[in-house]
Amino acid sequence: MTPSFTAPTLLSKLPATGVTIFTKMSALANEKGAINLSQGFPDFPPDPRLLERASQALLTGNNQYSPMTGLPLLREAIADLIARHYGRNVHVADEITVTSGASEAIFDAITALIKLGDEVILFDPAYDLYEPTVTLAGGICKRVSLEAPTFRPDWQAFEATLTAKTRLVLINTPHNPTGSCWLAEDVERLWQAVQHRDVYVLSDEVYEFIQFNESVVSVHKHQRLAERSIIVSSFGKSFHLTGWKVGYVVAPADITAELRKVHQYVTFCTATPLQQALAEHLLALPEESAGLAGLYRQKRDVLRNALANSRFHLLPCDGTYFQLLDYSDISDLDDVAFCEWLIDEVGVAAIPISVFYQTPPNGQRLIRLCFAKEDDTLVEAAQRLSAL
Ligand SMILES: Cc1ncc(COP(=O)(O)O)c(C=O)c1O
Repeated sequence: MTPSFTAPTLLSKLPATGVTIFTKMSALANEKGAINLSQGFPDFPPDPRLLERASQALLTGNNQYSPMTGLPLLREAIADLIARHYGRNVHVADEITVTSGASEAIFDAITALIKLGDEVILFDPAYDLYEPTVTLAGGICKRVSLEAPTFRPDWQAFEATLTAKTRLVLINTPHNPTGSCWLAEDVERLWQAVQHRDVYVLSDEVYEFIQFNESVVSVHKHQRLAERSIIVSSFGKSFHLTGWKVGYVVAPADITAELRKVHQYVTFCTATPLQQALAEHLLALPEESAGLAGLYRQKRDVLRNALANSRFHLLPCDGTYFQLLDYSDISDLDDVAFCEWLIDEVGVAAIPISVFYQTPPNGQRLIRLCFAKEDDTLVEAAQRLSAL
C-alpha cells in the first residue's frame, strides 16, 4: 500500500553535535564504578546554611515567578559582590540579569548579538557550548590557537583573525579545559585590538573566584573594555551548586536590554526560592567566595603532590578546578581511546581535551582531571594513576 502521507524530513541544525563528552564519560564511569574526575562538579556538599535558606525559601512561599530580570535582592547582592571584588559599580536595574546558569546567559548573549554571517572569534581549545550556540544563531566561528603548556593568547594571530565581519570575541579566563589564566596585559591587548572596531566581548568568567595567581584578572577591572563587554558568572561554580543552574550576566544597559529580550522567552526567570536563598546568603556572608581560591589551591596541591612520582607530566594550573596531564610517556593512544582505557583498566575517569578543539594539535596527549573532589578521592585516584 502506498502511504497517504509524507513523512517530514528532519534536517539537523547541528549535524556534527552529539551527546557531550561529559555525559559520555560520566555514564561510563558510573557503569564501571570508576572514580569520576571527568565532569566538572564538586563531590562535596554546599554550605549547609545555604541549603537551610533554600528550604526556608521553599516553605515560606517564594514559589512563583520572580521578576524577569531576577530578584531585586539578589541583583543588589551581586552588585555589592562586584563592587567589593573588582571595585566596579554596576547599575542594579539596567546592567545585571539573573539567568539559569552561565549557559543560559551565554546563549542569550550570542542569540541577541549574532546575525547571519557574523564572525565570532574563539580561542582553541574552547568550552564546548560556544560553537553550537554561534552556529544556531547563524554566525561563523574563527578560532585562534592556544599553545601548550601555558595556553596564553597569541595577540598577533588574534589580530590577523579580526575582519570587518567580526562582531564578537568570546573569551574565558580562568580557562576550561586548560586551567590557564589571562594576565592583566592580555586584557589590555584585547582592548587595544578591538577599541576602534564594531566588536563586542563576551567574557565567560565562571571560575572568577578560583584564580591562584597574586593578581586576579577580570574584564570587570578594565573599565573601557567592560563598557563593551558581557561578563558571565555562575553561582554553580562559586558555591558548589552546579545542579542549581543559577548564574548572572553583567552588561551595559543597551546590550542588557537586547539580551533580556531573549532571556524573557527562553526561561523568563530562574527558580525563585534558589534566588532568594542565594541573595540572603550573599548578604549574610559577603566574603565567602573570596575563600574559594584557597580551598581549590589546597585541592590542586593534594592532587599534584600525589601525582608527583607518576609518569604523567603535570601542566601548570593557575585557575579553575582542572588539572591537565600529559600522558605521552605512558601511551600512544589518542586521548579519547586513552580515557576509555583509563576507565576500564585503571578505574579513573578523565576528559580527553581534543573534544574542546576545532583542530586538535597533532600528537598532543593531554587529559583533564577535575579536582573539585574530597581529598581522599583525589589521593585514591592519584595512587591508581601513579601505578601506570
Ligand atoms: C567555561 C564554562 N562556562 C560555562 C559553564 C556553564 O556554567 P553553568 O553550569 O552555570 O551553566 C561551564 C560549566 O562547566 C564552564 O566550564
